[in-house]
Amino acid sequence: MDAGVTFLLLVSSLILSFYFILNRKPNASKSLNLPPGPPKLPIIGNIHQIAGALPHHAFRELAKKYGPIMHMQLGQISTIVISSPLLAKEVFKTNDLALASRPYTLLADIVLYGSSDVALGPYGDYWRQMKKMITVELLSAKKVRSFSGFREQEIDHFIEFLRSSCEKPIVIREKVTEMINNIVCKSSFGDNCKQQDVLIELVDDLGRLVSGFYVADLFPEFGFLSVISGMKSKLTKIHKSLDKIFDDIFEERKTKRQRNGVSEDDLLDVLFTIKESGGLQFPITDDNIKAVFVNMFTGGTDTSAMTIEWAMTEMMKNPNVMDKAQREVREAFKGKKKITESDLQDLVYLKFVVKETLRLHPPLPLLLPRECREQCQIAGYDIPVKMKVIVNAFACAVDPEYWDDAESFKPERFEKSTTDFMGTNFEFVPFGSGRRMCPGINFGVTSIQFALAQMLYYFNWKLPFELSPKDVDITENDGATAVKKVPLMLTPTLYSSFSH
Ligand code: HEM
Repeated sequence: MDAGVTFLLLVSSLILSFYFILNRKPNASKSLNLPPGPPKLPIIGNIHQIAGALPHHAFRELAKKYGPIMHMQLGQISTIVISSPLLAKEVFKTNDLALASRPYTLLADIVLYGSSDVALGPYGDYWRQMKKMITVELLSAKKVRSFSGFREQEIDHFIEFLRSSCEKPIVIREKVTEMINNIVCKSSFGDNCKQQDVLIELVDDLGRLVSGFYVADLFPEFGFLSVISGMKSKLTKIHKSLDKIFDDIFEERKTKRQRNGVSEDDLLDVLFTIKESGGLQFPITDDNIKAVFVNMFTGGTDTSAMTIEWAMTEMMKNPNVMDKAQREVREAFKGKKKITESDLQDLVYLKFVVKETLRLHPPLPLLLPRECREQCQIAGYDIPVKMKVIVNAFACAVDPEYWDDAESFKPERFEKSTTDFMGTNFEFVPFGSGRRMCPGINFGVTSIQFALAQMLYYFNWKLPFELSPKDVDITENDGATAVKKVPLMLTPTLYSSFSH
């Protein structure tokens, strides 16, 4: 949360005090057995304890004092924060259905067509239909494989760029983000992704507003806050621009389908075919399809790009890991000029590197919040309807009871362990778990592994400006996503086998 927002929040709290005094309601939560938590201030509750800090770190520190289940009042939002794998299991397994909804956000209301998307939409029959559709029809292993051509093309471009930048320091994030965006764009709309640059910029702006810790989300009853904070106008502007781009793409595609007949080359075709064939319990509209695409772009780009940047960062910081990963890749590919995705299956150690990166740097360290839809209990405490529930996946992934030397980057830890990120090991849930688990694991991980494998195969990497591994900074930026604060700069040099 930035300083401006914090200031606005404190000023607003004065105004709100009067409202609360005039509108005091009987306290329903008195009869509930709520978990303990840090002491709360009037009006703002516990906001001051996370303001200015990285929320997943602040929650973790508070949990050390108040326990793995805490009740916190974040403005008007009554929130439970879970910080241990054991209790995460109670959220994701025991109470998965009771906690399967998402809290209301202004962002989802405005930009996601009245929360009609999969990621932030409330649980219900419509949501279940859409989640099934996205999982089975759009992001299944078979469908993801069918996009291998797009990935190969885009990663080839990226590798070409690296070749042309040899011996020059480059900001890894910029080009990696562009590459991942292009993969998502092409998988969605084929080669004719209109206004791709604008689309990418809009998605980027949106990503920055998605934290759920903005003043308008913390005080939803006070609509005026979304106006005076400028949030509503920013979101409306993003929505209108995105909507116009999608309209243009959709119109062109409809004309093409009428002219050339139906094909299923990209996700837009798949969704149009589903829409036209009818037979759905809830017929879908163009707006519903647009909402799904906003999810694909926001969920699928920064998360994967960030993981590549963090993996490179950790390997530069730990040269022995870089060495081992490079040796593996170079032995497995044995001088091949062209790598294909099927070559990835032999890269056992590189997969551990990706896992370890996702453990220490989960792109969404607090996952996405859930909302209680049926009263239930966690650790014997009552969780009433409408309560927001946050699982601190980062805290679980560095819990010393589950991980040896938890804060160190050691891919070898996975050599003798079957712990995986598929949602059944609650100490390692970078993609969440249960009904609201990420449906894009295959899509994301394949691009990450393929890009990293080639980066390590064709190039050696140096830190610029005579920096040494211990100088590599791993501070995270403020916000809901754990992006590296200082973008990683590296100098690629062509590996000797390819320099002639
Ligand atoms: C490294 C890559 C990725 C990471 C770390 C990641 C992480 C996550 C997390 C933590 C959640 C919330 C899970 C929960 O609430 O329990 C999520 C949800 C979601 N992700 Fe991903 N994701 C990645 C890639 C993708 C990709 C490539 C796509 C699509 C192209 C995608 C689409 C979604 C969607 C639609 C949801 C909402 C699921 C729901 O609410 O039921 N993600 N992701």
